[in-house]
Amino acid sequence: MKNFIIDDATAEDVKEILLIDRACLDGFWSEISYLNELDNKNTDMIVIRSQGEVLGVGATWLYFDEAHIIMLAVKPEYQNQGLGSAIIWQMLRGAHQFGAEWVVLEVRASNTKAIDLYKKFDFVEVGRRKEYYSNNREDALVLWCKGVNTLKFAQKLAVKQRQIIAKLNDRGWHWLNTKDEKYH
Ligand SMILES: CC(C)(COP(=O)(O)OP(=O)(O)OC[C@H]1O[C@@H](n2cnc3c(N)ncnc32)[C@H](O)[C@@H]1OP(=O)(O)O)[C@@H](O)C(=O)NCCC(=O)NCCS
Repeated sequence: MKNFIIDDATAEDVKEILLIDRACLDGFWSEISYLNELDNKNTDMIVIRSQGEVLGVGATWLYFDEAHIIMLAVKPEYQNQGLGSAIIWQMLRGAHQFGAEWVVLEVRASNTKAIDLYKKFDFVEVGRRKEYYSNNREDALVLWCKGVNTLKFAQKLAVKQRQIIAKLNDRGWHWLNTKDEKYH
């Protein structure tokens, strides 16, 4: 079994995060943008670490009643093993702990893999932003997950975590901790 942890991203991670960003998101943010986001108290940026390597990253903006998933990516060679689900799970847990009522995100209309994955976390499509992505004028779907601050949601997250852990274990991964259960 290979171990991984989910942790807060740090400035030292940014070089590795940029490589993942270039490989998966066509350059979503610059180095300066990542560093600025790390300084933004409303941004929760997390990474998956394994043996000193960053395997995936996700960022959420947390404002008042809302959490907005801004970015999510897993290194291509580590995809389809459950790591993306672990990051989404942690972002939703963070949103629940923050007290957000809902989580919202935009995703490329062609990104069926990410859309299907979010739907497994009970996101539903609530809108479409025309030509939202400037590089190819692709539409964005707006996905939304509500009731995030409820006890029922926390219970659903607990069930979901067991399913994710089963998939991860199957692929040889041991999830050592969640972000709020720091591993020592
Ligand atoms: C989206 C992403 C983060 C998912 O990470 P991951 O580690 O592969 O995710 P997981 O392994 O937890 O789950 C992948 C799921 O997608 C499914 N899947 C794989 N290929 C698929 C496809 N072509 N179409 C639909 N679903 C697909 C898998 O079956 C799996 O579902 P399961 O858990 O029921 O088996 C990753 O693919 C990625 O970095 N993509 C590029 C960046 C991106 O699109 N980010 C999202 C922007 S909003």
